[in-house]
Amino acid sequence: MGYSYHIPTRRNPFNEDVLEWRESEVEDLIENRSNMKILIATQKPFAAKAVEGMKNILTEAGYEVAMLERYEEPEELVAAVADVDGLIVRSDKVTAEVIEAAPNLKIVVRAGAGYDNVDLAAATAHDVVVMNTPGQNSNAVAELAIAMMIYMSRNRFTPGTGFELQGKTVGIHAYGNVGRLVGRKAKALGMNVIAYDPFVTDKALFENDGVKQVDSVEELYKSADYLSLHIPATPETKASINYALVGKMPKGGLLVNTARKEVIDEEGLIMLMQERNDLKYMTDVMPAADTKFRTLFEGRYFATPKKMGAQTAEANINAGIAAAKQIVDFIQNGNTRFQVNK
Ligand code: 3PG
Repeated sequence: MGYSYHIPTRRNPFNEDVLEWRESEVEDLIENRSNMKILIATQKPFAAKAVEGMKNILTEAGYEVAMLERYEEPEELVAAVADVDGLIVRSDKVTAEVIEAAPNLKIVVRAGAGYDNVDLAAATAHDVVVMNTPGQNSNAVAELAIAMMIYMSRNRFTPGTGFELQGKTVGIHAYGNVGRLVGRKAKALGMNVIAYDPFVTDKALFENDGVKQVDSVEELYKSADYLSLHIPATPETKASINYALVGKMPKGGLLVNTARKEVIDEEGLIMLMQERNDLKYMTDVMPAADTKFRTLFEGRYFATPKKMGAQTAEANINAGIAAAKQIVDFIQNGNTRFQVNK
């Protein structure tokens, strides 16, 4: 029909056939597009400046903005989406129940990188576009990964002799937006940087950063004094960081996880750390077995109480503003560049 913004697919409820929109109905849709309601739902709120910027962008586009911050129960999100057209979240769980409770929903933007918190199949089944904002909060996560390496190397800032990062080898598991930034910062600290990422085919990416690309994940762990994890949580990566793999790390190795808790085989790691009292684990994604780790490995284990990699004003502003702009660009121009459920 030549309209450049998103027209949802409409189906016959009895036989699922796609129904064409009439010209007059499309005109109504265009007319109504400025009556949209966008909900910003964040259990872990954005910085105030980010919220202010997001509200400005969305209200200037003519949309109503609703806020649901620091909510505790999933049911609160289910109730809040009843009349919304667009949804912006962080790690908030956008389940099939949430999507089914939002008959007007057209778009969900996860203001961040990982979208394992959104039920993509349910979204696709309801013709809801899902996007992320890749790269926008990466620097904050990369800085935290380096900070964790320093913190543990300096005995968690307690008295005693520690170690320097300079001259040590850091292995970067997955060379995406965050992995690359960790690599560059580690180089600046005088570390040897090696990386493994079977999905990055452009060798120049590693070469330009002065990073050595290794051919296997085993080689990465075998050579890394510090191992920084940046893989997403997928069915393939679930529990893939296990006893055998981490066990390849050299004496005194530190595993740093600012990715997802699900990628760790927790029982395997516990068994390994019991056998090897030289190994250490730091994370900002608290393990399910946090109490066990804390009790067994005092001084060798540290987890932040809340996921905090992307918890900076800058990251909130970058990711939040990008999310708001993507919503407007999608509704007004049909731009689906960052769609993850194509
Ligand atoms: C991400 O995937 O972008 C990071 O894990 C940050 O998540 P957060 O928005 O919940 O802090």
